[in-house]
Amino acid sequence: MFKYTLDNKRYHTLNYYYNKKYGCKVFKVSLNANFSCPNIDGTKGYGGCIYCLHGSGDYYKENTDLLTQFNEVKEKLHKKWPKAKYIGYFQANTNTYAKVDELKEKYELILKQDNVIGLNIATRPDSISNEVLNYLSELNKRTNLVIELGLQTIHDNTAKLINRGSTLKEFEDCLDKLNKENIDVVVHIINGLPYETKEMMIETAKYLSNKKILGIKIHMLHILKNTNLLKLYLKENFHVLTKEEYVDIVCDQLEYLNENIVINRITGDPDKDELVEPFWLTKKFGVLNEIDKELKRRNTYQGFNRSILNKVKQLCENNLKPNDIAVDMTCGNGNDTLFLCNLVNKGFVFGFDIQDIAINNTKKLLKENNLKNYKLFKENHKNINIVLNDYKGKISLILFNLGYLPNGDKKITTDHKSTLYALKNSLDMLNNKGIILIVIYPHTEGKIEEKEIKSYLKKEKILYNEYHNTDNKNSPYLIEIKKKLI
Ligand SMILES: C[S@@+](CC[C@H](N)C(=O)[O-])C[C@H]1O[C@@H](n2cnc3c(N)ncnc32)[C@H](O)[C@@H]1O
Repeated sequence: MFKYTLDNKRYHTLNYYYNKKYGCKVFKVSLNANFSCPNIDGTKGYGGCIYCLHGSGDYYKENTDLLTQFNEVKEKLHKKWPKAKYIGYFQANTNTYAKVDELKEKYELILKQDNVIGLNIATRPDSISNEVLNYLSELNKRTNLVIELGLQTIHDNTAKLINRGSTLKEFEDCLDKLNKENIDVVVHIINGLPYETKEMMIETAKYLSNKKILGIKIHMLHILKNTNLLKLYLKENFHVLTKEEYVDIVCDQLEYLNENIVINRITGDPDKDELVEPFWLTKKFGVLNEIDKELKRRNTYQGFNRSILNKVKQLCENNLKPNDIAVDMTCGNGNDTLFLCNLVNKGFVFGFDIQDIAINNTKKLLKENNLKNYKLFKENHKNINIVLNDYKGKISLILFNLGYLPNGDKKITTDHKSTLYALKNSLDMLNNKGIILIVIYPHTEGKIEEKEIKSYLKKEKILYNEYHNTDNKNSPYLIEIKKKLI
């Protein structure tokens, strides 16, 4: 099960993060500190981002003083959660866009309230001056500070269209500066921006998955009354994502995002009176449920696509039943053998490896996990048909994780000759529904193995699927072979 959740989600929840970090319930209290925005006052542009109303975010009582705003929310929450802690969330407009003295006055006022443990400050990547950065850096040393940076998209053409007034380069520079000061960053992105394709939205998530960020907020584009976005929509009638499309894209994005990135938000919460489209957004829990359901249906989770070995595990889970027999053709350190033993807990696993160290490591790992449903052979896997002669036609899954022993002698590696023999001999060992999984690595011998395996499968007209988890041609990938011959 996915570990960064307290409630069976398949993504890293904010609730989990707070609970782990603070050991209690934590609430973010949204605040409007009446800051301006450089994209409204003419410094960067006029009119703001085209989707923006009231400085983006939930509904704000603009002229209510900060403390009243804070206390109103806190009092309500306190009745139900007397032990909760609070984070002041400066949300409306650009909350670092003012003189340091003004920022200090407003931030510190909230920080000194009882049970406030930190601040989240929403801002634009082009609006943190060096002076402000120095103050933030100092603040970061004495409280839990998070800067929430609006990126929205990595595509500068879209950024232009939505009058964002800020580029990817500015985001990168700002993130670098905040990273250097060790200030936590949560990045906001929007799905469904006009004319963006699914691929473009996924690229934004892929880009962020390798950045040093604490979290991400994923929004669906709201088309609100009295915005320039509504005017554009009425004029050009661009496609608005359906709920199904949104859920599909979010699940794809989650599969690419590093599992350490905390998902601060996964759908919006628009004000019904202001919302024009899409109306499905008003049923927030419906959207959340659909995301949970879709990840469950796919049998995937956040970060799934970051390693091809997750796909291996998924196919094992989808194909093996508890009573089945499986074979690990390359035990190595025993991780795959362990996984298979747990999966076929009423069945049996055979393991092969040519190295003593690999057999010993695997034995140790299985023993530590109190498993007994296995037998290991220090033997070349090409002899599977001889060693397991009694099991011909009875095996459900045969796994090859080619290459060399992780942390072992890199000179001892699987080689194309025995791999090919082993593959041929394995085909006879499978039962009718059996499959063979082969993870191929792109080192020199791996490339020869790949070529030999594929030309054999082609020659014999054996059907197979390929699974790649990245566009990088030099990444390991997976071949799935079904016994069924054409
Ligand atoms: C990439 S590692 C396997 C990783 C392993 N499944 C794990 O979870 O740690 C490949 C292993 O294949 C073994 N090996 C190489 N040639 C072999 C052969 N002909 N028969 C059996 N094992 C072989 C190596 O000794 C090495 O331990």
